[in-house]
Formats: sequence, structure tokens, C-alpha cells
Amino acid sequence: MTGRPLLSLKGVSKVFRNGGDVLEVLSGVSCDIMEGEQVCLLGRSGCGKSTLLRIVAGFLLPDAGHVEIGGERITAPGSDRCMVFQEDALFPWLTVRENVAFGARRKMPRGTLDSEVNRYLEKVGLASFGDYLPRQISGGMQQRVALARVLILRPRVLLMDEPFGALDALTRREMHKLFLSLMKETNGTSLFVTHDVEEAVTLADRILVMSRTPGRIRADIPVALCRPRDRFDGTFVRLCREVQDLLASEAVIA
Ligand SMILES: Nc1ncnc2c1ncn2[C@@H]1O[C@H](COP(=O)(O)OP(=O)(O)OP(=O)(O)O)[C@@H](O)[C@H]1O
Ligand SMILES: [Mg+2]
Repeated sequence: MTGRPLLSLKGVSKVFRNGGDVLEVLSGVSCDIMEGEQVCLLGRSGCGKSTLLRIVAGFLLPDAGHVEIGGERITAPGSDRCMVFQEDALFPWLTVRENVAFGARRKMPRGTLDSEVNRYLEKVGLASFGDYLPRQISGGMQQRVALARVLILRPRVLLMDEPFGALDALTRREMHKLFLSLMKETNGTSLFVTHDVEEAVTLADRILVMSRTPGRIRADIPVALCRPRDRFDGTFVRLCREVQDLLASEAVIA
């Protein structure tokens, strides 16, 4: 980790207007994320997590404030930020290999592309599934393809919107190990949305807990546990409880 923030959110606010209704979704969200840092965003449903991620991705513009990556203001999507969703829509008619190659095919010559695709398939444990179609592999394998196809682009920041939320607990834990080893290997940086407190304490260097209506950062909690983390360890369990209590103290319906 270096000393200067890679990603800076500076007073980000967002209002949605539906007909006559005005919904203030985010209000003055500010934080810095360092290179190599894994930051988890936790908050009740509807508090604006996905909206915040879409603003960082450049899909949406804030009404006030702005986001900077490497000191440059974000005004549009860019290949320096890649998003992985809960159920990532792979192209169903393309093979696993073609899906991984799709975004990268214009960025590198054919020979390099082929070897890079093989390298990333290897990394996510799918070297022998390159010729399969998405419907022929499991949900966990599909999420590994989704990871490979963004990692091959070498984004500066990975934006993850509940990427493992649809997976069973065992597969999710395998994905955690894989994700952390890939992030370590590439000194990758992520902003990771989850509903799962245990997932946040497993993955994060810092946990940002959001309040709702409007969404604000309510707590910024460092997770100073060494890795690999043991979810039965006393400190781990205490931290989960602390974060859970913070979330529970938010009203379910504003
Ligand atoms: N394009 C839009 N137009 C109008 N309102 C929107 C739009 N996108 C999101 N919202 C509203 O903004 C609020 C926050 O939505 P968002 O999807 O960011 O929440 P979230 O924290 O990701 O929730 P969840 O945990 O359920 O995924 C919700 O009330 C939603 O209805
Ligand atoms: Mg969401």
C-alpha cells in the first residue's frame, strides 16, 4: 500500500426525481481509498450502495461533489474501473474463453490476448473449461469467469456489487480466498458492496458502514486482523458483532 489515495470521494451527493417525488439518496459521502486496499461498503437495502458504485464507475454523475482516481476527476466510465455484479451477465453465446477475451480483444494483439486469456483462466481455476458455454458451468464458475474478464483488463479499481451474494456459503468462501489471493498478487484495489457482515470482516482492510436516507458514511472501521482470517477467532467474532449491531440500529423503514 502506498501513502496516497488512489480513489477519493469528495462530498458525493445524489438526488433522484421520480415524477414529483424527490429522493435524496446520497449526502456528502467522502472517503479515500489507498492503492492495494480492500474496502467493503455495508448498509441496509436501499441506502445507496449501488448508486455510489455506479457514480464511481462513471455510469452516473453526482449532483454535488465528485470522485477522483489518481487525482483525476471521474466524469465517464473508463477501463481503469471495472464492475462485477451479483449475477454477472456473461454473453451466453460465447464460450468461457471468448467471454474472458471480449473486453480485452481491442487492447492487445491476438497472440498476447490468447496467452493472457489462458493465464487468467488458469488463475481462476478454469483452464480446462475454456470451451464451455456459460450455461454449462456452475454459478460459482460463472463468477470466476466474471472476475477473470475484468482482471485481464488490469483495472486500477475493482468495483464489486455483491458479487458472491447468489453463491452457497462454501463456494462463497472459496471465492473469498481466490479474490484475496488475486488482489494480493496484483496489488489490486477494490470497493466491495456486500450485505454479509462476515464477508466484509473476511475481506476488508476497512469497512464503511452507511446510514440510510440519505446515505452517509456512518462508520469507518479498520480491520486489523492478519490473513488468512479465522471466522471462529474471538476478535473476528467480536468485530462481526460490532458491525452487525451498527447495522441493526438503523431503522428498517425510514
Ligand atoms: N435510476 C433511479 N431512479 C430513481 N431512483 C433510483 C434509481 N436508482 C436507485 N434509485 C433509488 O435510490 C435508492 C438507493 O438505491 P440503491 O440501488 O443504490 O440501493 P442499495 O443500497 O444498493 O440497495 P440494495 O442493498 O437493496 O441493493 C433506492 O431507494 C432506489 O429506489
Ligand atoms: Mg444494490
